[in-house]
Amino acid sequence: MDWKTLDEMPLADKTVLVRVDLNVPLENGTVSDDTRIQRIVPTIRDILDAGGKPVLLSHFGRPKGTHDPDMSLRPLAEPLAAAVGRPVMFCADCRGPAAQAAVAAQQKDQVVLLENTRFQPGEVTNDAKLAAEFAELGEVYCNDAFSCSHRAHASTEGVAQLLPSCGGRLMEAELGALDAALGQPERPLAALVGGAKVSTKLDLLSNLVEHVDHLIIGGAMANTFLAAQGFNVGTSLLEQDMTDTAAAILDKAGETGCKVLLPDDVVVAREFKAGAASQTVAVDQCPSDAMILDAGPNTVARIGDVLDQAKTMIWNGPLGAFEITPFDAATTTAARKVAERTRAGALVSVAGGGDTVAALNQAGVTGDFSYVSAAGGAFLEWMEGKALPGIAALGKSCAS
Ligand code: 3PG
Ligand code: MG
Repeated sequence: MDWKTLDEMPLADKTVLVRVDLNVPLENGTVSDDTRIQRIVPTIRDILDAGGKPVLLSHFGRPKGTHDPDMSLRPLAEPLAAAVGRPVMFCADCRGPAAQAAVAAQQKDQVVLLENTRFQPGEVTNDAKLAAEFAELGEVYCNDAFSCSHRAHASTEGVAQLLPSCGGRLMEAELGALDAALGQPERPLAALVGGAKVSTKLDLLSNLVEHVDHLIIGGAMANTFLAAQGFNVGTSLLEQDMTDTAAAILDKAGETGCKVLLPDDVVVAREFKAGAASQTVAVDQCPSDAMILDAGPNTVARIGDVLDQAKTMIWNGPLGAFEITPFDAATTTAARKVAERTRAGALVSVAGGGDTVAALNQAGVTGDFSYVSAAGGAFLEWMEGKALPGIAALGKSCAS
């Protein structure tokens, strides 16, 4: 890590600008999953305990630079106060006189939450003037939003260059876990990548075949690999124009010695709906009028064999159409196997990205993985081997 942690920063009597990710699911104004709120609590508490005053910056949704009341952070103030156990003062702007006044009035033991940074058009363009205005609000900057650090925005990249900067506790936890999984893993290292499209995970797959010992491919993207190998996949979701790319990934895996596991049996149905009549067939027996909706039991058993040998595993994406029964079976069984090996102390397991957390929650095993990232796109970009601008900027920030 070439950036500082909170322990290395002067915090007493300092106003600490903290970039957090409060982009949480809200249903009718109520937080339906508060994971991201819970995970920023250690940073906020540590700043308060050290006598600092935390001022929180976050985006919410994608409001495109205008004030959209449906994307206000105001409903987050109360759940945040409950989680931190201190008062949270909400300010209806993130810049200008209102923000300055809120910070000036902030008492010790209070948290200030500024309005959605993306209400400002300069946020996503990383406008220098907006970054400078953010910087004027605080004396120290702390990025605790790993999940937003793939964005070079004013509140992530821009402001970090202007203030003495550090990463927060969640940033430390996320990067520590990701480094254990892909940076310095205990081998054998297995990755399981599922989800719908090869096209969205191309960089991920290309990077993984260079680093992992076993690559398990599932979900609808496996269909594209199966088609590349000449199998008929019936009416399955398929990216026909990606079959050459899939073949190239398999060739690259052959060169690097990465063993790729694709389904050798599949669960097929004629309708995409819960409880649809289904059958398990060998991968070369998919009827022309049926679609593949899950990996079959033999495939799951082979995944289990890989997991029995692996010491580290990375999980991204479901193995089948996990949102409808019975096509959640492969995902659930494999996830439970990972959980069991992890509980036994035999496996370090790290999961993250998009649908992954929902699938693991449904399987009831989230708490048994070594680490489940709260990040979506940032998790993928890190796994793709890309530098994240919000983190790179911490290393370049001005000295404290
Ligand atoms: C997320 O939910 O993945 C982060 O908050 C980033 O949001 P974004 O994809 O809109 O930048
Ligand atoms: Mg996203």
